[in-house]
Amino acid sequence: MSLGCAGRFSEPSALVLLGLTILTLFLSSVPVSAWRPWPNATVANGSDLIFGNSKKYEGSSEFVRLKYHMGPVLTANITVHTIWYGTWQREQKKIIREFISSISADHSRHPSVSEWWKTVRLYTDQTGANISRTVRIGSEKNDRFYSHGKTLTRLSIQSVIKSAVTAKTKPLPISPQSGLYLLLTSDDVYVQDFCRQVCGFHYFTFPSIVGYTLPYAWVGNSAKLCPGMCAYPFAVPNYIPGLKALKSPNGDVGVDGMISVIGHEIAELASNPLVNAWYAGQDPSFPVEIADLCEGIYGTGGGGSYTGQLLDGRDGATYNLNGIRRRFLVQWIWNHLLGYCTGPNALDQ
Ligand SMILES: *[C@@H]1O[C@H](CO)[C@@H](O)[C@H](O)[C@H]1NC(C)=O
Ligand SMILES: *[C@@H]1O[C@H](CO)[C@@H](O)[C@H](O)[C@H]1NC(C)=O
Ligand SMILES: *[C@@H]1O[C@H](CO)[C@@H](O)[C@H](O)[C@H]1NC(C)=O
Ligand SMILES: *[C@@H]1O[C@H](CO)[C@@H](O)[C@H](O)[C@H]1NC(C)=O
Repeated sequence: MSLGCAGRFSEPSALVLLGLTILTLFLSSVPVSAWRPWPNATVANGSDLIFGNSKKYEGSSEFVRLKYHMGPVLTANITVHTIWYGTWQREQKKIIREFISSISADHSRHPSVSEWWKTVRLYTDQTGANISRTVRIGSEKNDRFYSHGKTLTRLSIQSVIKSAVTAKTKPLPISPQSGLYLLLTSDDVYVQDFCRQVCGFHYFTFPSIVGYTLPYAWVGNSAKLCPGMCAYPFAVPNYIPGLKALKSPNGDVGVDGMISVIGHEIAELASNPLVNAWYAGQDPSFPVEIADLCEGIYGTGGGGSYTGQLLDGRDGATYNLNGIRRRFLVQWIWNHLLGYCTGPNALDQ
């Protein structure tokens, strides 16, 4: 893939690729992607027709060879340092903060975000230590005036992080062992490959640019640029007739769509922070990671364009996890002990 310095990508929803066959062929050069059940246009909402009776084994495949490559995973308490780039509403920040806080919240109702994190915790390092149970909000930095413009490249993203950790006032702390740097861009910011190939990605910073090796992720608000792609199923691509968007649980299509991508990236950062720990595929410059394997799967039966069995709130909103005071829709994670994607809202648990 000619993606320059490859990060780890959260790809657009599988549904979108239905309309992008050429891109699909392009992406299929990615190792182990061939297992993915592509949506069938004639039964866009009927997973049973597509997948027969394989309800239990969402995403399962004998071709997935997820391996541990001996690098570190985040076993110490994880602290998420957030950079809010561009224009963010107070309420938008609150939704995202409460999702992150929900990851290690004990008392959310089943099925909960913290139960979802249990699948991530199944991954260990060389010493057998599991990924940390604790994920908490760290420091935050506002970059309200678009310090590096409204169009960012993969490299200028590192410069944004550098600005945040070297700021004269209240710089973000440097914590390579347990810190995770989350750059969130507002809906008027374009990031290289956003909407064409990615909704978010993770990687680590280069000492030559930032001064340190820090695991980071970028996730963009797609509300204006490509909600049908990156905020699916709360928005749907308009080239697929008859498909209706679902009501989002927190009343903000762009941000509710970001939540699953943020979950995807945090899960992968925890299990593959320096891109030398848990991934499948032969090519370390294009690893397929624990959330990549379950993209588009949010519930039992999920796959292709079908999200799987979800929960419906009394207000008509669709979600699959409960968090602190809120509900969220978050994709499932690959379970390497079972060999398929799992989540706490599975019907057979
Ligand atoms: C799509 O599903 C229909 C109905 O089940 C089936 O007849 C058709 O062959 C499928 N197409 C593909 C490409 O799988
Ligand atoms: C597909 O969606 C339509 C409209 O929401 C519904 O009437 C139909 O039963 C669904 N089909 C399947 C197989 O779920
Ligand atoms: C730690 O990982 C091992 C191996 O995957 C798993 O059996 C165990 O349940 C995990 N422990 C926790 C607390 O998640
Ligand atoms: C990690 O977090 C737990 C709470 O989940 C806390 O009890 C513990 O003291 C923390 N450890 C460190 C080293 O901060």
